[in-house]
Amino acid sequence: MSAADTRTEALLVTGGAGFIGSNFIRWALAERPAWRIVNVDKLTYAGNLENLAQIAEDSRYRFVRADIRDRARMRELMGEGVWGIVNFAAESHVDRSIESATEFLETNILGTQVLMEEAREAKVTRFLQVSTDEVYGSLGPDGKFSEATPLAPNSPYSASKAAADLMARAAFHTHGFPALITRCSNNYGPYQFPEKLIPLMITNAMAGEALPVYGDGCQVRDWLHVADHCSALGVVLERGEPGEVYNIGGSNELKNLDIVRVILESLGKPQTLIRHVKDRPGHDRRYAIDSSKLQSRLGWRPSIPFGEGIRATIRWYQENTLWWQRIKSGEYLEYYRRTYGERL
Ligand code: NAD
Ligand code: DAU
Repeated sequence: MSAADTRTEALLVTGGAGFIGSNFIRWALAERPAWRIVNVDKLTYAGNLENLAQIAEDSRYRFVRADIRDRARMRELMGEGVWGIVNFAAESHVDRSIESATEFLETNILGTQVLMEEAREAKVTRFLQVSTDEVYGSLGPDGKFSEATPLAPNSPYSASKAAADLMARAAFHTHGFPALITRCSNNYGPYQFPEKLIPLMITNAMAGEALPVYGDGCQVRDWLHVADHCSALGVVLERGEPGEVYNIGGSNELKNLDIVRVILESLGKPQTLIRHVKDRPGHDRRYAIDSSKLQSRLGWRPSIPFGEGIRATIRWYQENTLWWQRIKSGEYLEYYRRTYGERL
């Protein structure tokens, strides 16, 4: 049992209604029976309380609809007793940041700063900033990102995440603030919003629609199942060294086109559904993560091989058609408008 397990305070999880945050909350309630979780989420288009329907009534769980930029609300929540924070809340989609970057700067940088300042005031003992391998920029054909790789973000999204990482670093060095930073590679798994590569391709293929592959489709990503990301975050939250950065990855590099082909084959759909479309501006060519620091210092290992994980993920989207159809049709937003009586 870790030191945190003896506390009566809660763990505050921001952005817990999104893809990784909701998987993390389910992981934490199952694996850490002594933890209480407060999920703070603004419910942007990417936040979906249906992701947490299974645990909504758990007495150790509470949902609060709030914006992490709302300083008074964050102060109030931390005043109720919080031992740690895991900050998932972010605008997370690169293509949206290319269309319009302001919201990315406001949530990803300013929101994180508000959280850190209020957490420092409330003497929170662990602050885990969930960051991304994209802060390192793009790789050539060889090599991997280590924690010592210079930051060189190429999209407005990754620049905003890098800025937040630097503010977390500065808070540690200046104030002794207990910030931990993780940088993970591309996640896949259940409850991923169907604008991201894998769920978009699965759901389009299931519907017999075209699969839009940007450019030549030979860009490489290093894929990790979301359950492995969650277990790594648990390890860093409990045993990581404040002020340190930990890379998280699955050593599982794949070209986008190869993933799309696997999905079509698994679903018994024709490869002719693939459409090469205009490339993403500034598209990073290759990401690959060296996670040996996390593995050697904290003993974490990924446990789900890609072949197994992608089959389970495809099955999940086949068994949960209503979940993604309601997102694609926009119905899930109507549900929130009716429930909360305000525009999102
Ligand atoms: P997501 O877009 O699915 O979820 C983001 C959540 O944050 C949503 O529930 C949204 O409502 C909430 N949110 C947005 N702005 C908010 C605000 N101002 N206040 C409160 N809540 C707000 O994202 P995801 O894919 O689950 O990613 C979660 C985190 O992990 C992000 O910080 C992202 O940068 C990071 N990350 C993601 C990946 C990946 O592959 N998806 C990989 C590495 C790191
Ligand atoms: O590397 C971690 C990052 O992974 C996270 O920080 C981001 O939050 C997350 O969104 C993800 O970013 P990517 O840009 O890598 O993910 P996305 O699913 O948008 O795209 C994956 C690859 O697939 C990328 O090379 C672009 C390509 N792509 C994507 C879409 C949506 C296509 O070819 N067609 C598409 O329609």
